[in-house]
Amino acid sequence: MKILVTAGPTREPIDPVRYLSNRSSGKMGYALAGAAAHEGHQILLISGPTSLDIPAGVDFLPVETGLEMFEAVQRHIGRMDAAIFAAAVADYRPAHPATGKIKKSSAPLSLDLVPNPDILGSCRSVFGFTGTLVGFAAETSDVLDHARGKLIAKGCDLLVANDVSRPGIGFESDRNEVHLVFPDRIETLPEDDKTSLALEIIHQVEKLHAH
Ligand code: PMT
Repeated sequence: MKILVTAGPTREPIDPVRYLSNRSSGKMGYALAGAAAHEGHQILLISGPTSLDIPAGVDFLPVETGLEMFEAVQRHIGRMDAAIFAAAVADYRPAHPATGKIKKSSAPLSLDLVPNPDILGSCRSVFGFTGTLVGFAAETSDVLDHARGKLIAKGCDLLVANDVSRPGIGFESDRNEVHLVFPDRIETLPEDDKTSLALEIIHQVEKLHAH
């Protein structure tokens, strides 16, 4: 299969030296890309900035902002059999990034933020993608309810939900616990390292694609 994987955070510039971002390390997405390549699939990894090594045998497309990730996915998704969205895309970006470094002053500073495009949410409706679509849900409460809502709203075949409020799993950690939310059932993969979980998720994607 040809599989597109998004990973890592995005950085949304405030000025030339500052940005808004989040705690995503890229580990979950890179583990998925590595596991899928190991299983013999052709992978395009579209990644925000991380300090990780690119997994062996993976085509790599680095991006910085949510808009760049949107454009990269739009350009490549048409030739994919499956797409897995593990990136933590910033939901908002500064409306007017300053061209020069913002000077310190004693006055309060407000930033106007505008929503970034929903890349996963554009796959069916905007990009016309008909392949196997897998999203993630990073939640801090009512994990399964929110995940089910995202599964339906974004037209996914599978939503991988994780509780990012639990210490030791989720963001930055080598470990995670995930709930696989399908349209007709939920399976929980108990806490394990991200490499092992990634392999199980890839096997689920293979099964979904085969049906
Ligand atoms: O990178 P790590 O440190 O290993 O951490 C892993 C992780 C916690 C980042 C990962 O397991 C995870 O949950 N990734 C999704 C993070 C997220 O942004 O979740 P969300 O519930 O806000 O978004 C829902 C889905 O829409 C996700 O598939 C996301 O990639 C996608 N999305 C969100 C916003 C946006 N503008 N475009 C998107 O495509």
